[in-house]
Amino acid sequence: MCMNILLVAASKHGSTQGVAEVIAEVLKERGHSVDLFSPTDAPDIAPYDALIVGSAVYMTKWMPEAVDFTKRVKHEKPGIPVWAFSVGLSGLPQGEISDPSRVGPVLLNIQAKDHRTFPGRFDPSQLSLRERSIARLGGASEGDWRDFDDVRDWALTIADELDK
Ligand SMILES: Cc1cc2nc3c(=O)[nH]c(=O)nc-3n(C[C@H](O)[C@H](O)[C@H](O)COP(=O)(O)O)c2cc1C
Repeated sequence: MCMNILLVAASKHGSTQGVAEVIAEVLKERGHSVDLFSPTDAPDIAPYDALIVGSAVYMTKWMPEAVDFTKRVKHEKPGIPVWAFSVGLSGLPQGEISDPSRVGPVLLNIQAKDHRTFPGRFDPSQLSLRERSIARLGGASEGDWRDFDDVRDWALTIADELDK
C-alpha cells in the first residue's frame, strides 16, 4: 500500500540533506510517496501516514529547528509512526560512529521506533574558521564518511515495516 511519508531533515552544510535524499529515493522505489522538507518549511503532519526526521549533530545536539519540529509532532499527530536519524562525526575515523546519546532527550518528544546515527562529512573548505576549529578540536578527520549503502539498508527496513 502506498503510504504518504513526511521526511524532515535539518542540514547546515548539505551532508544530512544528501542522506535524506537517499532515504527518499529508496522509499519511492518501494512505491511510497515521500515529501522532503527542512524543519522550517515542513507542512502540517496531519495528512501523513509516517514521519522520518533527522538532523545533523552540532555540539552534541540536533539543530534547534529540528528540535522545535519534534515538539510539533505531539500536537499535530500523536501516534504517527516515527523514525529518526542523526548525522555526525563523533568517533570517526578512530572507531565506530558513536551514537550521540545526548541527542536522546529530543527523541522522547517523538517516541521514535528506531534511531540511527550515520557518519557525516567534514569538508573544511565549506566551513568558517570557527566551525573548522571546533570540528578539529572534536577530533573530526577531513573527508566524506557517509555510507550510502548503510543508509539504503536502513531505509529498506523502514519500507519493510510500512509493508507489514
Ligand atoms: C562546529 C561543528 C561541530 C560539530 N559537532 C559535532 C558533534 O558534537 N557530534 C558529532 O557527532 N558531529 C559533530 N560535527 C560533525 C557534523 O555533524 C558533520 O560534519 C555533519 O556531516 C554535518 O551535517 P550537515 O552537512 O548536514 O550540516 C560537528 C561539525 C562542526 C563543523
